Amino acid sequence: MIAQRKDDHVRLAVEQQRAHRGHNEFDDVSFIHHALAGIDRTDISLATCFAGVEWPVPLYINAMTGGSPMTGVINRDLAIAARETGVPIATGSMSPYFKDPSSSDTFSVLRRENPDGFIMANVNATASVEQARQAIRLLQADALQVHLNTIQETVMPEGDRSFASWGPRIGEIVAGVDVPVFVKEVGFGLSRSSVEALGKLGVRVADVGGRGGTNFARIENGRRELADFTYLEGWGQSAPACLLDSQGSSVSLFSSGGVRNPLDIVRSLALGAAAVGASGQFLRTLLDDGVDGLIAQICTWIDHVEALMTALGARTPADLTRCDVLISGALHSFCSNRGIETGQLATRSIASLNTRKTTGDTP
Ligand code: FNR
Repeated sequence: MIAQRKDDHVRLAVEQQRAHRGHNEFDDVSFIHHALAGIDRTDISLATCFAGVEWPVPLYINAMTGGSPMTGVINRDLAIAARETGVPIATGSMSPYFKDPSSSDTFSVLRRENPDGFIMANVNATASVEQARQAIRLLQADALQVHLNTIQETVMPEGDRSFASWGPRIGEIVAGVDVPVFVKEVGFGLSRSSVEALGKLGVRVADVGGRGGTNFARIENGRRELADFTYLEGWGQSAPACLLDSQGSSVSLFSSGGVRNPLDIVRSLALGAAAVGASGQFLRTLLDDGVDGLIAQICTWIDHVEALMTALGARTPADLTRCDVLISGALHSFCSNRGIETGQLATRSIASLNTRKTTGDTP
């Protein structure tokens, strides 16, 4: 049953990617062009630091799969792509392994193919502390992702219906494992109050996992006999909305959900993300163009991120948070409703020029 569900998720997610690559709220974030802001490509460092961790690039392959023979092959290929490009990678939820330990290989292949890479194990918020430890041990994981997915569970015919224990359980997991815990949504977003609550539980990274890419309300609705949850397909907040909502939080933020291209990565970094993850796009490339196609795509994305940072005058991912961005459309309306001031985002370079003038710093 669970192995079949994992295969269904892959099939339905890839169908979604093939059918829809249109507008999402990342398009409501644009940069002010400054013609003389450019720097030399050789000035760029893509390294990103957060929660005591350093990654060479601010891009990772986000959680997807494992638990069936087909998804074990996908995990092998994703691990090869991660190894060849140096990007961190997460496995999909390891609950199939807890239910059937004979599926362990479909997850541990991530470490076997990528012995030196940064690997994130993945569990749901009902996993016991012991299961979280087992997941970390199996992958010799460098971090643990815990996923939050109330809407997916709600629409999933066989899904959970009880969510009250999730917060306390995350606190127990944080206290009981010896790697950093990153909590992620699966495509409906994390609000500021969710991020703050996670911070209080000791979570080091909140991966906002916003709306606009892979849509698990639609995927699970497609698995229901009556398909009677169509009206939930627009639920949740986009990744840029979540990043703006949680600006200034003490928890490091990752951006994911609907990331389509290198510009979405740069937009995310400019809105304060420490790193940016993609799932559906990479899965589609892997299935359509093979592992070499995925490696080529990741290399191109990294190359283009460097190119865009060079034109924007940002030497590091953190420098992008000083670039001027305009917020428009539905994202602007979200900000107005939430009392988020967007004017200062559009004038950040002027503010930093004024600071330099008063302190006498040269640019
Ligand atoms: C996912 N995602 C996911 N997330 C998670 O934490 N555990 C999981 O087991 C899965 N499973 C899964 C399967 C498939 C086929 C896909 C495409 C995705 C969710 C994923 O990590 C991410 O949050 C969402 O897909 C949104 O990002 P994209 O796809 O829009 O880049």
